[in-house]
Amino acid sequence: MMGLVFYDSVHGNTRQVAEAIAEQIKADGHQARIINLSSDSACTMQGDFMFIGSPTRYSTMTGHVKKFIKRLDQSIWGDKPICAFETYGPVEEGKVVASKTNEKWITSGASKKILDMLKDRGFNIRAPTLRLAVTGLKGPLASGQIEEAKKYTHEFIDSIGG
Ligand SMILES: Cc1cc2nc3c(=O)[nH]c(=O)nc-3n(C[C@H](O)[C@H](O)[C@H](O)COP(=O)(O)O)c2cc1C
Repeated sequence: MMGLVFYDSVHGNTRQVAEAIAEQIKADGHQARIINLSSDSACTMQGDFMFIGSPTRYSTMTGHVKKFIKRLDQSIWGDKPICAFETYGPVEEGKVVASKTNEKWITSGASKKILDMLKDRGFNIRAPTLRLAVTGLKGPLASGQIEEAKKYTHEFIDSIGG
């Protein structure tokens, strides 16, 4: 199978996650391409499944990601599985899972917005989405987040019979 990993990233954290996802897709015996949406939001590359990732900025996805989703072709991607991921924060190291301070962002972060937008358009989007925390406003990723991304990717591929 061919997996496409589309992402936007201002400070590099979401890019790191996109790279980890692509690495895991390959480790599971498939092909992967990474596409940076800040330079290519009109990409029409074909594949069997897709990941779309954005940093959470002001509780939502970036403009590049929104533009890409608006243009996503239903006739090509309507039946294929899509996963959304985001990086968000800051979350105190060691409090990533149960952070009360970031609870409000769980319902309003980038991946939830991506999920809602794709659902509204009738796409086959996976829930729950993949959310990875950073420890400062601009990063770095909290410990264990790359491993989480790889685990999620592996389980997703398993679930689609890969
Ligand atoms: C201007 C700005 C706004 C942000 N807004 C939010 C926010 O609303 N909610 C949140 O959880 N994180 C927010 N963050 C934290 C980012 O989501 C986090 O740093 C992310 O990992 C950045 O990803 P990137 O390195 O790929 O750009 C914000 C960061 C910046 C710099």
